[in-house]
Amino acid sequence: MTRLIHHTPVYEDNDGKGNFPLSYHLEMISDYERVSLFKQGIDQSVTKDTVFCELGCGTGIFSIYAASKAKKVYAVEHDSKIFEIAKKNISASGLKDKIQLIRGDCLEVELPEKVDVLFSEMLSIWMIEEPQILVMNHAVNQLLKPGAVTIPSKIINLAELCHTDFTFDGIRLPTSIAQFTGIKAPRIMSESRVCNRFSLNKENPAEVRSFAEFQLLTSGVVNSVRLSSIVTISENVHFYATDTLMPLTIVPLIEEVRLKEAERIFLQADYKHRGSLENAIFKLKRRK
Ligand SMILES: C[S@@+](CC[C@H](N)C(=O)[O-])C[C@H]1O[C@@H](n2cnc3c(N)ncnc32)[C@H](O)[C@@H]1O
Repeated sequence: MTRLIHHTPVYEDNDGKGNFPLSYHLEMISDYERVSLFKQGIDQSVTKDTVFCELGCGTGIFSIYAASKAKKVYAVEHDSKIFEIAKKNISASGLKDKIQLIRGDCLEVELPEKVDVLFSEMLSIWMIEEPQILVMNHAVNQLLKPGAVTIPSKIINLAELCHTDFTFDGIRLPTSIAQFTGIKAPRIMSESRVCNRFSLNKENPAEVRSFAEFQLLTSGVVNSVRLSSIVTISENVHFYATDTLMPLTIVPLIEEVRLKEAERIFLQADYKHRGSLENAIFKLKRRK
């Protein structure tokens, strides 16, 4: 199994409920940077009076942590294998009385009460592969008390224009690729630009078309973009990228373009939230 497949949920019936292999859950909970930053977000938002909900609780690691501080925790998970593991972890935590574990679909779950803090980590690069935005939309419409806090709270998507050598040993294979440690880096040809921003405490569109203008730092053929995201977990707590979560990702352009140093050009991106990088379209458009 490649690392990329390992990190990508399997959608058996295209219903938005992706499952991960258990080994990826183990990788996620042992990613110190990911876990400690999300715990900091919980520390900043949860008090003894907080009603907290985690959508997609996986092993239960964050629901259990939140329960050590909150009044009540709702933890929702649909995947039967990891649900059973969460159940055991919650029993072993000594916080079972505070946590209501619900087997259900986060895109339509109903809770017995509205919540003060809504937590969900279904993040993927640019929110393309996983249902983060759709799940947060459901939460915003159905689950939050007025003024509730969402974790994460904001996401900024960035891109750089680049040239990637998609040829290996004479074999050409242009495809999207996560920049896990050890993967060959592209040649960066522009500064990083903000392509779009999402506040997760309000509803966001399921489909996106974004434009951003770039100026070339070097002459040459631009054939790809390198995507990254800055996730604001809570005030002053930001996550960028690890091998486990949202590694910088190269995506080939629909068409390569030869450009000169200092030339300006627009990047148009068309994609669906909970779509796929393969179906996302990235293309360059010259200024008129
Ligand atoms: C990236 S994992 C994060 C798990 C855990 N929150 C953590 O941070 O360690 C996302 C979790 O959401 C669950 N999930 C994805 N889509 C879901 C849906 N529509 N309904 C319920 N759970 C879902 C997956 O099964 C997985 O356990």
